[in-house]
Amino acid sequence: MPVTIARPRSLRGEIIAPGDKSVSHRAIMFNALSNTGTASITNFSPGGDCTATIEIMRELGVEITRNADPNGRGDSLTVKGVGLNGLQEPSEILDAGNSGTTTRLMSGILAGRDILTILTGDDSLKSRPMGRVVNPLTEMGAVISGRAGNTLAPLVFHGGSLRGSTYEMPVASAQLKSCLLLAGLRADGITTLTQPAESRDHTERMFSAMGVNLKTSGLDLVLEPSELNTVDVEIPGDISSAAFWMVAGICHPDAELMIRNVGINPTRAGIITALQMMGANLTLIDERVVAGEPVADVLVKTSQLNGIELSGDIVPLLIDEIPVITVAAAIAEGETVIRDAEELRVKESDRIHTSITWLNGAGIDAVGTDDGMIIPGGGSIGGGQFQSSNDHRLAMSLGIAGLISIDPITIVDPDEAGSSYPDFWKIIQKIGGLIE
Ligand code: S3P
Repeated sequence: MPVTIARPRSLRGEIIAPGDKSVSHRAIMFNALSNTGTASITNFSPGGDCTATIEIMRELGVEITRNADPNGRGDSLTVKGVGLNGLQEPSEILDAGNSGTTTRLMSGILAGRDILTILTGDDSLKSRPMGRVVNPLTEMGAVISGRAGNTLAPLVFHGGSLRGSTYEMPVASAQLKSCLLLAGLRADGITTLTQPAESRDHTERMFSAMGVNLKTSGLDLVLEPSELNTVDVEIPGDISSAAFWMVAGICHPDAELMIRNVGINPTRAGIITALQMMGANLTLIDERVVAGEPVADVLVKTSQLNGIELSGDIVPLLIDEIPVITVAAAIAEGETVIRDAEELRVKESDRIHTSITWLNGAGIDAVGTDDGMIIPGGGSIGGGQFQSSNDHRLAMSLGIAGLISIDPITIVDPDEAGSSYPDFWKIIQKIGGLIE
């Protein structure tokens, strides 16, 4: 059912960020491979992507229980580790749904095993590049086939035996990095990766907590084959979900929003730097460390925003937040230029194309470039009816645009938000957004 969002007179309230999607995937996968017992995971991401990871691990013989938290904070899970070599051959094709993280990390787990597995997903996922994981895994000795010359899902993992490798990563991708580190755990020999730039480091942090012998030096990573020890994980709130409320709070003309329990790991917090560069009235409160990850509450208020340039090393640190940054850029004074962000072309949608399409439809004169966008700023967002293009972050960016646009915005397919944030529309209503 479509939803229509209209700008409320004021925007006030307190929101608790849902459990982080990236950390949730890793907490399940890594504990499933541990050989030391049962882990408990709290504040697990409510999104469909992480549920896909649970279902796949269950198909592979891992026992996982999932219960709603009595305090309403995420779900609590237990995962019983089967050890690095304990996964069983599934009778069904494994379905990763919309989740690129599930597909690429599971590729590192499934490669080079003595079981046959087939991994697929929805139409968006089947169009996303998988050669970036298939090629280096093949170099490590895995035998993998897929559509379009082994570059698109469904992917079939036949077996093989893995050897360590030295690999220069062509993209700053935490999914690729994590895939190869997971494969390296069971390889014969050392795996060495060089990254072109920093990307989210949740795998490195969790591996260290689980006793893996992984050394980081600048952009280089050196992993020795290791077993994993179970670790309990309290998942921090998802900064990528919190980003929507940050942008709503700074853009609405009469707003004050408190967002609680936001993970601010420096490899994820590019959005905070970018919004502060834009002049956002954004304060971090009660900075603390939860399960090895830095966390804070974030207070945002109505702000006078200016355009900025985003390029270079900051881009991987805010890659998922660019769709919602375009909302702030549209109304900021002065031009915003985004470069070096060609990865946007291969996310859940081509986010350069889909962002520019809706911005233009809402009267914002933005243009796409090969590797980014130019948004002139100083505009007012008009209303209209828009599609999410099978992309949760597009759906939610449109919702935030509706909170500040002159006329209402209708999102034809709002349920896409469920991949990472099923409660998103309820929260819009709770903080004063008007939904029809
Ligand atoms: C993720 C890494 C990012 C991000 C995705 C989640 C992860 O992808 O866009 O939403 O959990 O590792 P890339 O690493 O491919 O850029």
